[in-house]
Amino acid sequence: MNCLQWVVASGLLMCCCTSKDMKFQQYFAQGQNLYETHCSNCHQKNGQGLGRLYPPLAGSDYLKNNFEASICLMKYGTSGEISVKGIQFNKPMPGVPSLTELELAEILTYITNAWGEEHEMITLEQTSQALKNCTPP
Ligand code: HEC
Repeated sequence: MNCLQWVVASGLLMCCCTSKDMKFQQYFAQGQNLYETHCSNCHQKNGQGLGRLYPPLAGSDYLKNNFEASICLMKYGTSGEISVKGIQFNKPMPGVPSLTELELAEILTYITNAWGEEHEMITLEQTSQALKNCTPP
């Protein structure tokens, strides 16, 4: 394989052949760090959540169907009843207001690809657009 550059993702040295792959790997690796700093306390490292307290992110239908709202709630928090994979949750989530558009894109690239699902990388343009439409609670 003809490597343009080596990057470290998930502690593994990976070879990347196009600049698109490279950007993906960088977002993914950075997203993992941010996820483990800001989110995994509640949603757990494996994204499975915790019983009826914290909803899962792995395979979350809520995240898929409410993509822009999910970006807003990561930054601004949320409350009220929501349903994730057929289970009702109703516990406020504090937001992380310091997260930038780039960091949100990195976290989303991580959580939509980390646990067995494959998704295009989430771009800065997408998170920036979503944040314009947020109504902070
Ligand atoms: C203090 C615990 C806590 C932390 C930290 C936390 N969350 Fe949450 N999260 C929750 C709870 C509780 C809900 C359900 C909110 C409700 O019932 O309205 C939730 C809901 C969600 C949802 C929508 C439901 C779903 O499962 O798809 C997403 C997406 C989400 N959180 C992502 C994140 C991300 C990304 C981070 C890190 C930036 C994060 N959360 C940090 C507790 C937390």
